[in-house]
Amino acid sequence: MNWRDYWNQDTPIYSGERHKLLHYRGVANDIIDLIPFSEAAILDYGCGEALFADRVAARCGHLYLSDAAPLVRGRLEERLGSNAKVSILAPEEVSALPDGALDVIIVNSLLQYLSLEELRTLLGLWRDKLSAQGRLVIADVVPPHLSPVTDARALLSFAWTGGFLKSAVVGLGRTAFSDYRRLRGAIGLSQYDEAEMLDILRAAGFHAERAPVNLGHNQARMTFFASPGPLVALTQTSRPCGPESSTA
Ligand SMILES: C[S@@+](CC[C@H](N)C(=O)[O-])C[C@H]1O[C@@H](n2cnc3c(N)ncnc32)[C@H](O)[C@@H]1O
Repeated sequence: MNWRDYWNQDTPIYSGERHKLLHYRGVANDIIDLIPFSEAAILDYGCGEALFADRVAARCGHLYLSDAAPLVRGRLEERLGSNAKVSILAPEEVSALPDGALDVIIVNSLLQYLSLEELRTLLGLWRDKLSAQGRLVIADVVPPHLSPVTDARALLSFAWTGGFLKSAVVGLGRTAFSDYRRLRGAIGLSQYDEAEMLDILRAAGFHAERAPVNLGHNQARMTFFASPGPLVALTQTSRPCGPESSTA
């Protein structure tokens, strides 16, 4: 089994429905904060179940969701297939989008499952599809030597504030004996430090910087902003889409 196959099934990654809902709600809120203007075309690449994608779509011009797992895309189609502001794409279909068509590409919690070669290929694709001022957001990058204990601590803290501590503790025990742990031991996760990520992004033709905070709950992991053109400060472009607080 490889990581692509692993994600094409129900996994024990979320300790329960509440964990999953809070995770996807937080990611959707973070994406909303990154929408530069109300007509922006957004791609969430490796989107997973994207449970709050309808909220993101309501705040931008068009939302493209792409995931390698047919199971995931089938579920997205069921939930969002009738939403005219959402398109669900297989990874191969992303290359058919016109060059320069996208304003923001979000890639959250995917890099650890890609080889360096796959990452470099995808960076070329994402660069082609972004507008000159477009922004690539690569989030939840796992630094080398990040111990599973640090990840577990971050999860337990998230669970404590989110009210699912008991199920998180049970879930951690379950994950320790799962296919995830076995696969991680067998093929590993791709991990990069800040300097390596910046080098890889710049070698792919991006202007790049590390973001001050990571998307999601785990601040031991990293987010990077990259753009084919000079990076525009987010404070100049974010939150013009409407009055609703994205932290709801
Ligand atoms: C850890 S989940 C992250 C989901 C979502 N981005 C989030 O933040 O919750 C990784 C997702 O990436 C997808 N994936 C794995 N390899 C991929 C690839 N090469 N291209 C596109 N999606 C991929 C998996 O199917 C899975 O849904």
